[in-house]
Amino acid sequence: MLKGKKIVLGITGSIAAYKSCMIIRDLIKQGAEVQVVITPSGKEFITPLTLSTLSGKPVVSEFFDRRDGSWFSHVDLGLWADAMLVAPATASSIAKMANGVADNMLITTYLSMKAPVFIAPAMDLDMYAHPSTQNNLMTLKRYGNIIIEPQSGELASHLEGKGRMEEPENIINQLEKFFS
Ligand SMILES: Cc1cc2nc3c(=O)[nH]c(=O)nc-3n(C[C@H](O)[C@H](O)[C@H](O)COP(=O)(O)O)c2cc1C
Repeated sequence: MLKGKKIVLGITGSIAAYKSCMIIRDLIKQGAEVQVVITPSGKEFITPLTLSTLSGKPVVSEFFDRRDGSWFSHVDLGLWADAMLVAPATASSIAKMANGVADNMLITTYLSMKAPVFIAPAMDLDMYAHPSTQNNLMTLKRYGNIIIEPQSGELASHLEGKGRMEEPENIINQLEKFFS
């Protein structure tokens, strides 16, 4: 189902970022092409080297390269993709996406996206339950984005509740279902 599909995978600064490796591996196994776009904060959680090795493409993160002024077009990425998946999606990035705060490459790519966008929130239970986060998610749904509900369980904080990012295999299933 995903063979030949071009997927932009957005990764943000959540502890669940390590699960993005499994997402990339499974997408590639199924014959998809994956372009990773990561926030500056996301790079504190997982290295671009790991992500580029798994995806087979250089990771996009900064607006431009300070050394030579070369830059990557978020507009081209928006036209290239068959789908964008933001997994994990932090409360901060969800807020920026809902409000058009285009201060990093991931958000500018999101705002330029022509293809369907899937968003897999990951955060602590109170951050997820906060009316601000819930309002932002409702706004994104209204924009036509597909929210992949987080699960309940033990969180990185060792608290129990809703906020755990959906498991990689279930995220991939949702993409497959969409394309079928
Ligand atoms: C150890 C650690 C884990 C974090 N995990 C999350 C998380 O799962 N979800 C979240 O919304 N924020 C989390 N944060 C806070 C974000 O990293 C922070 O809000 C950051 O600015 C997000 O930036 P970004 O959305 O641009 O990647 C965490 C912070 C730390 C230090």
